[in-house]
Amino acid sequence: MASGFRGEVATYYARHRRGYPPEVLDALATAFGLGGDDTVIDLGCGTGQLSIPLAARVRAVVGVDPEPDMLALARQAAVDAATTNTAWVLGADRDVPTLGHLLGERTIGALTVAVAIHFMDRDALFRTIRPLVRPGGGVAVITNGVPLWSQDTRWSEALRGCLERLVGRPVTATCDTDAAGRRRNRNALVRAGYRYAESVVQYDAPLTIEDMVGGVFSAIPAELLPSAADRATFTAEVRDALDGRDAVTERVRVWLQFGTAHVPAR
Ligand SMILES: C[S@@+](CC[C@H](N)C(=O)[O-])C[C@H]1O[C@@H](n2cnc3c(N)ncnc32)[C@H](O)[C@@H]1O
Repeated sequence: MASGFRGEVATYYARHRRGYPPEVLDALATAFGLGGDDTVIDLGCGTGQLSIPLAARVRAVVGVDPEPDMLALARQAAVDAATTNTAWVLGADRDVPTLGHLLGERTIGALTVAVAIHFMDRDALFRTIRPLVRPGGGVAVITNGVPLWSQDTRWSEALRGCLERLVGRPVTATCDTDAAGRRRNRNALVRAGYRYAESVVQYDAPLTIEDMVGGVFSAIPAELLPSAADRATFTAEVRDALDGRDAVTERVRVWLQFGTAHVPAR
């Protein structure tokens, strides 16, 4: 069930991946009318980037992930943020029916899947979660920008060059953040009978070289992480390729795709 996000990779993830701005949480809350009575399942919660701020808006968030190291860091982040309404469950998309037995039918306001849908069987997931969702609630599939090495900027191109030299092959992974991935999400939500809507939150933010390099190492499966010496060489190469700059500006586009469970007619 493990997916490679463990050990140092998990630490890089917690330290260097972006969280979500309040506008993303507003969009989620508005889409499903989320409030103080709602429980949300954040599937593929990682180190809690979305689960923890979301918990401030609802009754409780259940963060689910197959990687114990990611969950341990999420739990610690919740403690550090004095968040007391999160629970952390070791599991994966195929464990959703078990969660159904635990929580009961029509009990959740939303299932969120942020930067993790590419690991899951969409059709099965959207179908099996449906009985657990209260009317007007639903499923949100979220991307947090696109991978740092695949953006349409000079700094991203330079990073991609360094990364390709490090791994010795072209790097093309989009993690389903592209239009084709979003189309697959939309089609699967519609097939499962949800009403579909989408929105984008866009902002510019600084990206330090440290976060850029840490972001790359947070995306490499633990067993393929380079040696400490190769990581240092890579960091120096990235710095050179960016002409010694300490930071660049990243345009982050957060796509939110909503599938709403219909409210029954009175
Ligand atoms: C890129 S991280 C996303 C973390 C977080 N949601 C965020 O927005 O930053 C992907 C997460 O999905 C988890 N994952 C991988 N396969 C999964 C599966 N089949 N079911 C649930 N989560 C999975 C990984 O362990 C990892 O923590």
